[in-house]
Amino acid sequence: QQDPRIARISSAIRVIPDFPKPGIMFHDITTLLLDTKAFKDTIDLFVERYRDKNISVVAGVEARGFIFGPPIALAIGAKFVPMRKPNKLPGEVISEEYSLEYGTDKMEMHVGAVEAGERALVIDDLIATGGTLCAAVKLLERVGVNVVECACVIELLGLKVNVLLEANLLEPFGASR
Ligand code: PRP
Repeated sequence: QQDPRIARISSAIRVIPDFPKPGIMFHDITTLLLDTKAFKDTIDLFVERYRDKNISVVAGVEARGFIFGPPIALAIGAKFVPMRKPNKLPGEVISEEYSLEYGTDKMEMHVGAVEAGERALVIDDLIATGGTLCAAVKLLERVGVNVVECACVIELLGLKVNVLLEANLLEPFGASR
């Protein structure tokens, strides 16, 4: 019942133990990008889910949301908005602080990139604790954007979220907004 494309996508992702530090199993999507069929299937699966959802903004989280977000945005006719690490965007920004395992980080978005009332999809490669995606959702909601869903390719901790590589392909988390 699982989409047959999922197995190939999954096997194209390389897992490297103890990177960047001991105990971390790093899911490396650069090998997925080398497999032209698996990369295209990944984008297609998201496009099939989101093309008829009236989405005008795809917000991609630095850094690997910048790889998956733009082709999805182009295919569904939405604009792409980068959600960046601090002090990278040259214009006026709004920012959202969020907690990491140790300490805090900040995510920034250009003022004027989105308008109140727009419908957004948030894209990243991977969700672990969900802190990063939550910060992206908060930033967008603060300026009146409706976040329709968040989606990513890989899920690490068994959360109930929209993840490509789960048996129940892309089941929405919570209520779709
Ligand atoms: C990784 C990943 C997500 C985030 C997920 O990024 O690409 O953005 O962690 O973790 P969370 O669900 O616990 O918040 P990373 O911190 O490695 O930054 P990078 O993309 O700039 O390498």
